[in-house]
Amino acid sequence: MSPGPHAVLAEGLEKRYGEKRALDGFDLTVARGTVHGLLGPNGAGKTTVVRILSTLVRLDGGRAEVAGIDVAGRPREVRRRIGLTGQYAAVDEITTARQNLVMFGRLFHLGKKAAECRAAELLEQFALTDAADKGVKEFSGGMRRRLDLATSMILAPQVLFLDEPTTGLDPRGRNEVWEAVRSLVAGGTTVLLTTQYLDEADKLADRIAVIERGRTIADDTPAALKQQIGGDRIEVVVQEAADLPAALRVVARVTGAEPDSDPEARRVAAPVTDRVAALTEVVRTLQDEKIPVEDIGLRRPTLDEVFLRITGRRAEDGTGDAGPAERTREAGRAA
Ligand SMILES: Nc1ncnc2c1ncn2[C@@H]1O[C@H](COP(=O)(O)OP(=O)(O)O)[C@@H](O)[C@H]1O
Ligand SMILES: [Mg+2]
Repeated sequence: MSPGPHAVLAEGLEKRYGEKRALDGFDLTVARGTVHGLLGPNGAGKTTVVRILSTLVRLDGGRAEVAGIDVAGRPREVRRRIGLTGQYAAVDEITTARQNLVMFGRLFHLGKKAAECRAAELLEQFALTDAADKGVKEFSGGMRRRLDLATSMILAPQVLFLDEPTTGLDPRGRNEVWEAVRSLVAGGTTVLLTTQYLDEADKLADRIAVIERGRTIADDTPAALKQQIGGDRIEVVVQEAADLPAALRVVARVTGAEPDSDPEARRVAAPVTDRVAALTEVVRTLQDEKIPVEDIGLRRPTLDEVFLRITGRRAEDGTGDAGPAERTREAGRAA
């Protein structure tokens, strides 16, 4: 049973639900000890990938290995090596955090002492020691999600699947979960993390695979993905909406590129190669033409722009986030 060089290997995965092709030739390679982001809009196939890799659903085509073991051929061996945290917390609300962890430990056939020991370790690791003996119903969203993470770490899995671990959390909860994920990775666990949040993938992942319509459309480091759309951009916000066309002409002339304009934000933006020269020239020309400027600057492209460029449309039809209705549907499917 050779462990193989990769924590996850997926080749040409196919999954159909009736007529619907949820996965349509999905490829992915995750190196051991890394965090790989799987980034895509709602319905792209992220949960389906996680379900196949964690042996919860059967694949219709292609090949998948986790920890060097064939998922279709030896699912029980795969299950012994993985942890899974779904989109919604599975913890019991009535009991305390500690009781939850001990109970799951016993479910996983740990003895009483071993289960208690493991619970204490995990409470410490996920910064829940102070809240250990409080009822879970008093927990914030971030604390619950951390308890959920702790639960999936009881058997110290080699590979952990996190399916949208921060969807629905407030910024503080998201930060807490990010910290928890970082501590897991520091301990050597390989993580495959699905997300609709570009900043989340950017912050946590060593590499990011972009999935759309069941297919991998990009797979690279966050920095390389950003480079795909060129270097820095210059952005000009004019004071008067009426000046927007004039500003657009100036920026086009100086950069030699075709600027994007956002009339609502009174903003014009374009890629630049020679940063400082372009900025200086744009500032001077705008002054010469007496166009009042509210803001002007250079900035690096965001992953949002990368995603837009790669997919040709904005994640989530312009909002980049799932609405409550979307989340509820997800919850139903993920359950
Ligand atoms: N159990 C199912 N039955 C029918 N269609 C499904 C089922 N699960 C997922 N799908 C469909 O497959 C596609 C991919 O879904 P999913 O993997 O949940 O995407 P994501 O997690 O990226 O939002 C979607 O179009 C979804 O509607
Ligand atoms: Mg999903």
